[in-house]
Amino acid sequence: MNSSVVVGLQWGDEGKGKVSYLLSRGADAVVRFQGGANAGHTVVLDGRRLKFNILPAGSASGARPVIGAGCIVDVERLEGELSMLQSIGVQARPLISRFAGVVLSLHKDLDGSLEALRGKAIGTTRMGIGPAYADKCLRIGLRVGDLSRKAVLAEKLRLIGKFHNLPTGEDFERLSEAGGRLAQFVGDTTSYLVGLLKGGGRVVFEGAQGALLDLDYGTYPYVTSSHTLAGAASIGSGVPHTMLGDVVGVMKAYTTRVGGGPFPTEIDGGLAEIIRSSGAEYGTTTGRPRRVGWLDIPALRYACMLNGVSWLAVTKLDVLSNIDEVKVCVRYLCDGVEYESLAGLEDLSGARPVYEVFKGWRADASEWSEAVKGGWDMLPSNAREYLGFVEKMLGVGIGLVSVGEPVGYEVFKEDRYA
Ligand code: IMP
Repeated sequence: MNSSVVVGLQWGDEGKGKVSYLLSRGADAVVRFQGGANAGHTVVLDGRRLKFNILPAGSASGARPVIGAGCIVDVERLEGELSMLQSIGVQARPLISRFAGVVLSLHKDLDGSLEALRGKAIGTTRMGIGPAYADKCLRIGLRVGDLSRKAVLAEKLRLIGKFHNLPTGEDFERLSEAGGRLAQFVGDTTSYLVGLLKGGGRVVFEGAQGALLDLDYGTYPYVTSSHTLAGAASIGSGVPHTMLGDVVGVMKAYTTRVGGGPFPTEIDGGLAEIIRSSGAEYGTTTGRPRRVGWLDIPALRYACMLNGVSWLAVTKLDVLSNIDEVKVCVRYLCDGVEYESLAGLEDLSGARPVYEVFKGWRADASEWSEAVKGGWDMLPSNAREYLGFVEKMLGVGIGLVSVGEPVGYEVFKEDRYA
């Protein structure tokens, strides 16, 4: 099948936006299938930083943006991002599933008040995503297709407001007007995408968040409220799973996490600060400083298994430059028992990482740019050793290494992925 599913293998922020953009060049459509504006996907083009929350970042390439039924739509952000695309000369004609959910102001308020109720906060993005999905499961959720039908919209807002005992008054005018403007883009994603794929078109599915934030398989309850795994691309876009192609697992050369929850390889102090500042590890959506740690093979092994990863895209390799020793967690020790995968572990809080230490590599921007021109063999040899170890440990090949933020700084190991 001429399609790729791009998913994150860590706790989000792996660089899926850039990878999706690279793979979307020349594609017919690029699809978000879960999550909403909690995601922050960035593409840096010609020095301009484009931040996408709800549209797929791959749409900056000109591929048609599709928002599947599995998503939660923030209509203001959606319209803002369409204008952003216009400002770079992309006249996007999105296709938005009529079944996609709509987030209301009260969902954002509830997101905040639920956090306050919890003993230990999850550290959500407060975009209202969890409460909006909860309403969907209760079968009272507002859907994109309802926005252009005034009577349905009014009735649904009444019911949602009554259930939560919160006002929805302001939302009616705002949503009804947006619904009128967006109606031309609302439709059936299944017929469109299946037709495209059957006709030989190319489709990229752009996942949001990461495997370890999956609602069921992640570090519950410190997770997001949707399924972040490759399998979700099928249900969330309405395309049969037999039509999904390669699964591209995106992983950062180290690990970050934003919000609460276990993080066995977390580091702090001066080294964490160096990595945080050279990697610009601050939330795209919230601006929060991200927690930083070493690469975690047991977690990645689990994520590769859950997603059935075909090949890996490693991002931000350059951020680890000029560090004398780079560590990789190869297993956990928990109550005297060794774990090689997070799969066997119920509670991560007692997991102690066992590290292998690698010699660091030194390279400045000009050396990285030479490496990019020269290809895989021009990467610093210690960095190649590090990457080779990752491939061996995970049993999956690396197809793409990305250094630096701007598009143009990436090394494809195998031509077929270029
Ligand atoms: P929510 O998705 O806003 O409910 O947040 C739940 C958890 O997922 C929090 O720890 C967030 O920081 C995290 N999260 C949600 N979206 C992203 C993302 O795009 N990148 C990284 N973390 C995320």
